[in-house]
Amino acid sequence: MAAANSYRGAYRGAEASRHAPEAVADIVALADAGAPVAGFIRETVFGNTGGVLLPDGYLAQVYETVRAHGGLTIADEVQVGYGQLGDWFWGFQQQGVIPDIVAAAKSIGAGQPIGAVITRRDIADRYRTHGPLPPKRTFTLGNLVDMFLEGV
Ligand SMILES: Cc1ncc(COP(=O)(O)O)c(C=O)c1O
Repeated sequence: MAAANSYRGAYRGAEASRHAPEAVADIVALADAGAPVAGFIRETVFGNTGGVLLPDGYLAQVYETVRAHGGLTIADEVQVGYGQLGDWFWGFQQQGVIPDIVAAAKSIGAGQPIGAVITRRDIADRYRTHGPLPPKRTFTLGNLVDMFLEGV
């Protein structure tokens, strides 16, 4: 799926609003072909490519379509989240959406090598019991607290 980058992407400046309908069409086409998306992950602000905001309304349209086809929405906030954006603590706030899963790192550790997966209880519970990793390696914030309490 093309990067919805209004500075370097296929559609730039005022044309950038064309990214969302195109992404929606891609997601619908996959579903129509019998391969609905399991999840959609995207940086909520382009961090690696210079701090470029997504087009207005982009994530709202894409998240709605992903969810309509049974997929999960995942926000990559590794670079841009956790207080890096001034008024918005998370990049997804700038887009007016709430993701199902948030991936964070870098600034959350203030120099320590730590990452976090933040999600709803129902998703975390399922991951804990059915996921590929042993329970102590599923890094929800809740697990992190558990680990401290257990002296791990
Ligand atoms: C935007 C972004 N997402 C995710 C990651 C994490 O990558 P990895 O899982 O390879 O450590 C990075 C690392 O620099 C990053 O810049």
